[in-house]
Amino acid sequence: MIRHCEFRNARIRYKDEGKGRAIILLHGFLESLEIWNNLSKRLSKSYRVISIDLPGHGGSSNYGYIHTMEMMAEAVHQVVKKLRLRKIVMTGHSMGGYVTLAYAELFPDDLKGFSLFHSTAVNDTTEKKKERLRAVEAIKAHPKKFVKGLFENLFHEENRKRFTDTISELSKAATDRPVEGYTASILGMRERVNREVVLKFSPSPVLIIAGKEDPIIPYTSLEKQSRYPQKGRYHLLERSAHLGFIEEPEKSEKILRSFYYCCFRRSC
Ligand code: MLT
Repeated sequence: MIRHCEFRNARIRYKDEGKGRAIILLHGFLESLEIWNNLSKRLSKSYRVISIDLPGHGGSSNYGYIHTMEMMAEAVHQVVKKLRLRKIVMTGHSMGGYVTLAYAELFPDDLKGFSLFHSTAVNDTTEKKKERLRAVEAIKAHPKKFVKGLFENLFHEENRKRFTDTISELSKAATDRPVEGYTASILGMRERVNREVVLKFSPSPVLIIAGKEDPIIPYTSLEKQSRYPQKGRYHLLERSAHLGFIEEPEKSEKILRSFYYCCFRRSC
């Protein structure tokens, strides 16, 4: 069921499905909670699944010039508080993973565990920060071209043909809202701090899932990051780029389910 939660005098949209222990799903840049539709429907047979539109995305409001990862984590926390959820497991895709890490730093007691899906605790390099400013100009100047190009790039080359319709749907949904939310998020990602320390001192289990062909978050550094937490797990999706839960859905679900089971049963 789609619902809204008030946050800083504006609205955050979320979907609440199923019953049981709570899983939170956070989408990535240019996406919305709908990106999780297939996965959340399946997971909600065993869990209560709350997928949230991050600020500036989907049906959630924009919150000014820059959307920091901390502000987005506060927005997520508002939903968690409103629903009176206790001891959740959070999964964040890419930018959603940066928000998950900010959440783990700000509200560690809420978490039974968290997973980063094609995401990293390392912050932007100087070169990447320059690229972010170019991205802000590019999306303002040619939103449709920017969005379509980005979504094509998120799929492994061998999967692109199979997902032509999905790429069109995702692009259309992303261009149906003003670009200000996206530019604010680009600037927020640019400003984000390194959170390797959050992994190193995580009291709860952490899962990192990487895509072998991911052009945005290369898998090479992620296995090392997964060894930082006391209870860390790592999986590499061999036939995925940046959207493994769509490119290899069954495998992704199996990996996540096994992680959720271990978090809630303390059997990691
Ligand atoms: C995302 O998919 O959320 C972004 O591409 C992540 C990033 O640009 O760092």
